[in-house]
Amino acid sequence: MTQLTDQRIILTGATGGIGSELAKQLSSHGCKLGLVGRSQEKLEQLAEQLDYKSDIALIVADIVTQEGRQSIVEQMKKEFMGYDILINTAGIMDFTSLLEQSDERIEAVFQTNVIAPIQLCKKVLPYMKSKNKGHIVNVGSTFGSIGFAWFTSYSTSKFALRGFSQALRRELAETAVKVSYIAPRAVKTSLNSSAVYNMAKEVKMNMDSPDWVAKKIIQSIINNDKEKYLGFPESLFVRINAIFPGIIDRATRSQNKIAEKYI
Ligand SMILES: NC(=O)c1ccc[n+]([C@@H]2O[C@H](COP(=O)([O-])OP(=O)(O)OC[C@H]3O[C@@H](n4cnc5c(N)ncnc54)[C@H](OP(=O)(O)O)[C@@H]3O)[C@@H](O)[C@H]2O)c1
Repeated sequence: MTQLTDQRIILTGATGGIGSELAKQLSSHGCKLGLVGRSQEKLEQLAEQLDYKSDIALIVADIVTQEGRQSIVEQMKKEFMGYDILINTAGIMDFTSLLEQSDERIEAVFQTNVIAPIQLCKKVLPYMKSKNKGHIVNVGSTFGSIGFAWFTSYSTSKFALRGFSQALRRELAETAVKVSYIAPRAVKTSLNSSAVYNMAKEVKMNMDSPDWVAKKIIQSIINNDKEKYLGFPESLFVRINAIFPGIIDRATRSQNKIAEKYI
C-alpha cells in the first residue's frame, strides 16, 4: 500500500476532465502536485479549486516536445526537489473512419498518447532508480484491449501504451520502481465530441463520471495495481476479446453500423 501524503506527483493532462478530478482528489490526500497542461489560464483556474494551494506547481508544457518534457522535470526539481510518481493522463482522440483521418492527426495521436509518455518515463526513470523509489501510472482505455471501429488510431495508441506499460514493468521488476496501467471505459469528459455522446446514447454505451474514475485511479495507485480495467462488463469483455476475439467481432457488428451514422 502506498501512503499518498507528501508524495510528489507529476500529473499530465491536469486540465482535462479526468486530470482535474485527479488533481482535486490528490490535493486533498496532501500530495505535492506538478500540474501539467498547455494553458496557463486553465491551470490557474484549476489551482483555484484545490485544497492546498501551497503544494502545487503549475507547469505549462507541451509533452510532445523535448523542451516541454525537460521543463517538467526541471520545475519538479526546483519546486519539490524531485518526484515520486508520474501519472500520464494527457491524451487525444478522434472518432472517425481511418480514411477520413489526416496523416497529421494520426501522427499527433501517436505523439501524444504513446511517444510522449514513453519519453517522459525515460526522463523520470534515472532519478527514480537512483532514489530506489517511484511509480509510473499510465492511463489507458478499454479501447487499448478491444480494437474499436471508428477509433482506429486512438485504439491502436492505447494498445501500444498497454504494451509499453507491461514491457517496462517487467524491465523494472528487479528495481523499486512500479508501473501501473489503468484503463477506464468511456468517461463523461470533453475528450468525447457531441458525435461520440450521441452515438454512445444510441448504443447504450456505459459512461462513468470523471470523479468516480479519478477515485478508482487513486485507489489503484494506493494498491499498487499492475493493470486495472474499470467498469463491468467491459472488464470481462477485455478478457473475452483476448482469448476469443471472434465473439467480440460478432457482438460489436450491429453497434459498429450504428456508430458509423455518427462519424
Ligand atoms: N474520456 C474518456 O471517455 C476516456 C475513456 C478512457 C480513457 N481515457 C483516457 O483518459 C485520459 C484523460 O482523458 P480526458 O477524458 O480527461 O480528456 P480531456 O478532458 O480531453 O483532457 C485531455 C488532457 O490532455 C492534455 N493534453 C493533450 N495534448 C497535450 C499535449 N501535447 N501536451 C500537454 N497536455 C496535453 C490536455 O491539456 P490542454 O489543456 O493543454 O489541452 C488535457 O488536460 C486520456 O489519456 C484518455 O485517453 C478517457
